[in-house]
Amino acid sequence: MTRKLFVTTALPYANAPFHLGHIMEYIQADIWVRHQRMSGNEVHFVGADDAHGAPIMIAAEKAGLTPQAFVAGIAAGRKQYLDGFHIQFDNWHSTDGEENHALSQDIYRKLKAAGFITSKTIEQFYDPVKNMFLPDRYIKGECPKCGAKDQYGDSCEVCSAVYAPTEVVNPYSVLTGATPVMKSSEHFFFKLSDQQCVDFLRNWALQDNRLQSEVANKCREWLEGEDGLGDWDISRDAPYFGIEIPDQPGKYFYVWLDAPVGYLASLKNYFSKTGRDFDAFMADPSTEQIHFIGKDITYFHTLFWPAMLKFSGYKTPDNVYAHGFVTVSGEKMSKSRGTGISPLRYLDIGMNPEWLRYYFAAKLNAKVEDLDMNPEDFVARVNSDLIGKYINIASRAAGFITKRFNGVISTDWATADDAFLGNLRTAAPEIQALFEAREYGKALRLAMEQADLVNAYVDANKPWELAKKPENDAKLQEVCSRLLEAFRILTIFLKPVLPQLASQVEAQLNIAALQWSDVATPLPHLHTIHPYTHLMQRVDPKIFDQLFDAPTASAAPAATAATTEAATTTAAVTAATGAASDIEPVAAEINIADFAKIDLRIAKIVNCEHVEGSDKLLRLTLDVGEGRTRNVFSGIKSAYQPEQLIGKLTVMVANLAPRKMKFGMSEGMVLAASAADEKNNPGLYILEPWPGAQPGMRVG
Ligand code: MSP
Ligand code: ZN
Repeated sequence: MTRKLFVTTALPYANAPFHLGHIMEYIQADIWVRHQRMSGNEVHFVGADDAHGAPIMIAAEKAGLTPQAFVAGIAAGRKQYLDGFHIQFDNWHSTDGEENHALSQDIYRKLKAAGFITSKTIEQFYDPVKNMFLPDRYIKGECPKCGAKDQYGDSCEVCSAVYAPTEVVNPYSVLTGATPVMKSSEHFFFKLSDQQCVDFLRNWALQDNRLQSEVANKCREWLEGEDGLGDWDISRDAPYFGIEIPDQPGKYFYVWLDAPVGYLASLKNYFSKTGRDFDAFMADPSTEQIHFIGKDITYFHTLFWPAMLKFSGYKTPDNVYAHGFVTVSGEKMSKSRGTGISPLRYLDIGMNPEWLRYYFAAKLNAKVEDLDMNPEDFVARVNSDLIGKYINIASRAAGFITKRFNGVISTDWATADDAFLGNLRTAAPEIQALFEAREYGKALRLAMEQADLVNAYVDANKPWELAKKPENDAKLQEVCSRLLEAFRILTIFLKPVLPQLASQVEAQLNIAALQWSDVATPLPHLHTIHPYTHLMQRVDPKIFDQLFDAPTASAAPAATAATTEAATTTAAVTAATGAASDIEPVAAEINIADFAKIDLRIAKIVNCEHVEGSDKLLRLTLDVGEGRTRNVFSGIKSAYQPEQLIGKLTVMVANLAPRKMKFGMSEGMVLAASAADEKNNPGLYILEPWPGAQPGMRVG
């Protein structure tokens, strides 16, 4: 029977472009979805941007944009990543869409009618300058345990203590520096502590293999812990970027209430675009609802979300599958520490997206384990396994069929389908089951074991030897035909992981799109294939120099003058002293064509932060209107505080080759003026266009 599947991945916050962790999650889910489609199941795979919440509201404000425009800018950059890595969502929507407003309010109304909403007045820190309540993360001060300065309102990075914001010594608002005051306000709560909720969740979480065992155990701890489940605060006071709570002016849903509803909203949006009935689909008991998420958000997905759905009368999730975190060469990815990998850079420098899909798949299993991305390992898996074992089969067999036999396959399968091909075919159900169970690493291992057997067949039959004597032609054609059939079956095994490659193989073999059921149906006798063209290149390990941030070298390149090393050009301009001798001599003459080579653009500084370990650099996140942002290090720390620059426009060299620095890749250079005799005259002045200039405009 065909299954009806509704599959989602977590909805990324719409305040930054995708990082490698997002891409890993999407690849994990995409492989599963493709496997389901190859099995003939009906799948609807949707995503969306998670648009709401205080951090996005504040980031938008800093960037000088409305939250809607800010979020739209991030959303516009999504497609190039998804297409680039062959991630085939049926729909990508936003939690700020009308469907989500309507669905979230409907769920709330139903929860309220069923008696699951209560309200109480609570006291919270309030920024009297900004006139808003402060989330814990927006309060800083001295750690109440160890006295360390500048610690967040919820935990200390120095001594790891966890505490309430009210315990912080000399607290201040991160937004304005003001001392927060306590203020009370009415908040709405979802009654998670209700016995009906607890009973429902225990059944839901611990039955039907719905959750991975580690996750189920965690749920048991949460449900049976000493304090039990507390009621969940679902409201926030204006100003807030979110969805209004019905009949409660000035109150909004906390972002985590409406975020998962965004799954339904994206499906509804997709169904309305394609003329399907959303309500009927969700009411159908055979519909399976499956969420792929990261381990950090299981609490939301295994307690709040199912309970919200249950007591508002909606369908509850069938499975929630959590994955671990991507680390890079054993370290946590961190933008500020320069250990992140930009997925766009991966594509830009010409790395094959299917290498990454294969690599992630080879390392993924059904457990909640972290996954390390490591260059040596990556090169070994791709070059030795993918290319060495699989691609090479085609290159060894297809050439002879094309050159010697006009592309015609010749085998009488009734006799040719011996143990060799039979083994291959019988491996299929197990591999299929491993994909189903999200044990991709094991699935690929089995596929590669089969590829080893095929290569052993090549070595035993030596087509290149057969090709030397014309009397062996029939044998050569038979051996190569069997090899192409073996290659076809291996391609089915790998297709969920390598969709683009599989479609190239289908085109070359001149066959329809491969499904799991095609394992049993060999290439027809006397079938003609198209000429072989090379399917996939090996990875050149040197390419990682361009992908990864430079390893931490002992001598910091950035430690020399800001003018040369910090990717900041300093136009030599003096204060108006008039003394010609004070200025740096003007450079050799150039013509207009020389100048035109330099692509200067207006850039918006959407973020700016200190660079840990550098006393010269600031890290700028620049929007040059490209639908993605750029990372630029600039040696202007002596002259500016990050807060002064956020939201400002400046001028950048947009076509400068990216440059590896100790702290990461610098993708351009911003223009700043400084005096020739910097030592005596140390001022540094970043250029700012007149009002009206827009990010992306060319300067010249
Ligand atoms: N907006 C929420 C999710 C709402 S779902 C209704 C959120 N967004 S996120 O952008 O921070 O994370 C999106 C997904 O990426 C989450 O599943 C998260 O676990 C995952 N990852 C974030 N960093 C990751 C890694 N380093 N590695 C793998 N996945 C990671 O949470
Ligand atoms: Zn401390």
